[in-house]
Amino acid sequence: MKFNSDNKYVYLKSGSNNECYYHNGIVAKIFYNGKPGYKPEPEAKYMKKANEINSLAVKFLDIKKYEDCTVIFMEKLTRVNKDLFTLEKRKQMLAMFEVQLKELHANDIYHIDIKNPYGRFDNVIITEEAIRLIDWGRSKELAAYGKSLVWNKEWEDVYTFSSWFLQSELYYEYTFLKKVDFISRLTNLS
Ligand SMILES: Nc1ncnc2c1ncn2[C@@H]1O[C@H](COP(=O)(O)OP(=O)(O)OP(=O)(O)O)[C@@H](O)[C@H]1O
Ligand SMILES: [Mg+2]
Repeated sequence: MKFNSDNKYVYLKSGSNNECYYHNGIVAKIFYNGKPGYKPEPEAKYMKKANEINSLAVKFLDIKKYEDCTVIFMEKLTRVNKDLFTLEKRKQMLAMFEVQLKELHANDIYHIDIKNPYGRFDNVIITEEAIRLIDWGRSKELAAYGKSLVWNKEWEDVYTFSSWFLQSELYYEYTFLKKVDFISRLTNLS
């Protein structure tokens, strides 16, 4: 059987390797057979493990094999603009995010792809209630890798995300432009 033969699922977005569709509060992430990139099974495994510990990871629902692909089904998260929250509220959300991430680390689960939601390929979703993480395709167990490498990457990403999250959108754009301006002036000098 082919996935979505009745066209129930609607196209949502493409990542670098996968396509996502949605229907009725569910996202279907498609992994076509033979395509390069991350495999669905480890992604499903880490989502499930993380779900057992706390609510940081998007909720895993199912994994199914079809004729031409494997599909991970998960809850659909709805984004809101972070500027809807007061700075105080954002600090609380960030504190909760860090506690939950540390809990996952204590259970040897590292996401390793906490990308800033300002870009196109974002893996952090800010919902009305909390900061949540999707795209567990790159997650790792620390035991299999160098501790400092994995640990440093994760917290560097959190640092970048936190700076963005605590600033207002306008301020972020302003500092970004200033940085570009600064770099171009440096280049012109050399
Ligand atoms: N559960 C979800 N709820 C809402 N949106 C989602 C969900 N899962 C995926 N998306 C949307 O689809 C995009 C692609 O999904 P995902 O990041 O899992 O794919 P990917 O191909 O592994 O991405 P990457 O380009 O980061 O490697 C996400 O950036 C997000 O915008
Ligand atoms: Mg992604």
